[in-house]
Amino acid sequence: MASLVSLLLLVLLLTLSLAESKTYWGDVAALKEFKNSVDAKSMTPGSCLSSWDFSVDPCDGLSGETFTCGFRCDTVVSGSGRVTELVLDQAGYSGSLSSVSFNFPHLQSLELSGNYFSGPLPDSLSNLTRLTRLFLSGNSFSGTIPDSLGSMPLLEELLLDNNNLNGSVPTSFNNLSSLKRLELQLNNISGHFPDLTSLKNLNYLDASDNRISGPVPSSLPGSIVQISMRNNLLQGTIPESFTNLASLEVIDLSHNKLSGSIPSFIFTHQTLQQLTLSSNGFTSFDTPRYSPSGLPSELISVDLGNNRIRGPLPLFVGLLPKLSALSLENNGFSGMIPRQYVWKTVSPASGIAGFQRLLLGGNFLFGVVPGPLMALEPGSANVQLAGNCFSWCPATLFFCQGREQRSLTECRKFRRVIP
Ligand SMILES: *[C@@H]1O[C@H](CO)[C@@H](O)[C@H](O)[C@H]1NC(C)=O
Ligand SMILES: *[C@@H]1O[C@H](CO)[C@@H](O)[C@H](O)[C@H]1NC(C)=O
Ligand SMILES: *[C@@H]1O[C@H](CO)[C@@H](O)[C@H](O)[C@H]1NC(C)=O
Ligand SMILES: *[C@@H]1O[C@H](CO)[C@@H](O)[C@H](O)[C@H]1NC(C)=O
Repeated sequence: MASLVSLLLLVLLLTLSLAESKTYWGDVAALKEFKNSVDAKSMTPGSCLSSWDFSVDPCDGLSGETFTCGFRCDTVVSGSGRVTELVLDQAGYSGSLSSVSFNFPHLQSLELSGNYFSGPLPDSLSNLTRLTRLFLSGNSFSGTIPDSLGSMPLLEELLLDNNNLNGSVPTSFNNLSSLKRLELQLNNISGHFPDLTSLKNLNYLDASDNRISGPVPSSLPGSIVQISMRNNLLQGTIPESFTNLASLEVIDLSHNKLSGSIPSFIFTHQTLQQLTLSSNGFTSFDTPRYSPSGLPSELISVDLGNNRIRGPLPLFVGLLPKLSALSLENNGFSGMIPRQYVWKTVSPASGIAGFQRLLLGGNFLFGVVPGPLMALEPGSANVQLAGNCFSWCPATLFFCQGREQRSLTECRKFRRVIP
């Protein structure tokens, strides 16, 4: 009899709590499942997840002692609360999420960056068809990126950087038609980079510090503003198609295996401001056509250091109107420093940017250091001429410091006749 009463009481309580429940039951179940997959020992007292006490309704509990943080509810349909954001960054959580179903059909934002989550990325993420932000940076996710991630039509920001992901970037990413920002840097991603021409809104791509091989991707959308693919295994040169990237401002392809000639169009690109191609195997560059009045170019910074480019210093670079930082260090440049470089450093013409940084160390430049440069005060501009073949470059001049000039033998060997 007593047990029947308590059973009735239980049923009554259950009915009451269901009647008062503000959160859709499926979302409560999904929150529980998520919490259960997180290592209990990583939920420190006071952390968001430890406040998830399912004795009260999650969406209703936000004002109390429980469910204090980590998610957001919105009343989406017929008065019941739906979880629209799950935000648990930088909180020290660990565990594998590979079998979590993420059954939150209204989730717009999933942010779990900077924890210790491990294991493969769950396929079920692809069921989050309303997601606009997926931030999984800085965890220990491993294995390949699931093809299914390409089926999130509203996704705008996808951050998978700083994990242990391998395999190639899925070709299905070309289906992420709302994507604006893609970060894949610091993983172990290999293979060729896929075609992303359908991503008409993509403006930021960082795939640096991986093992991506093949050519520099030639199929990027015209919306792209910044491309960073530093420290990969890319080969070939800059594709002609970059001419058509009418919003492109920054290219960083340093530390790859690029070779051959740097094409001339890149120096007169209509929007490009920063060109970083250091530490590759380029051997030359093509000179753009220009008139004595200068070149149309938006370039502010050019770094071609640590390549294998030979020949005289390019005159046209001294005429780029907005260029203020140039590094050509550690190449095989020879000859004298052009007057254009000297004037651009010491007294640039009005309306023309002067060189704030001019790094020419570690080449085979010869002759005398131009007189006007001798008068440069330390701190006025960052100039570096050490490690060349100048006949006189004493360490009393700040731009000769750090490295001796090369020996006569070495300079002669490089170029049989040194005047
Ligand atoms: C996506 O959701 C459906 C329906 O809830 C389920 O049957 C399916 O297994 C889910 N997919 C994944 C990959 O979890
Ligand atoms: C990716 O790494 C896993 C170990 O985490 C390994 O078993 C697998 O072979 C790797 N796959 C590729 C394509 O490198
Ligand atoms: C891309 O989307 C289209 C249409 O939505 C679909 O038919 C195709 O299978 C998707 N491709 C991939 C690789 O997911
Ligand atoms: C990356 O993958 C390669 C093989 O594809 C493997 O040899 C290497 O150890 C991996 N690096 C890391 C940091 O996992």
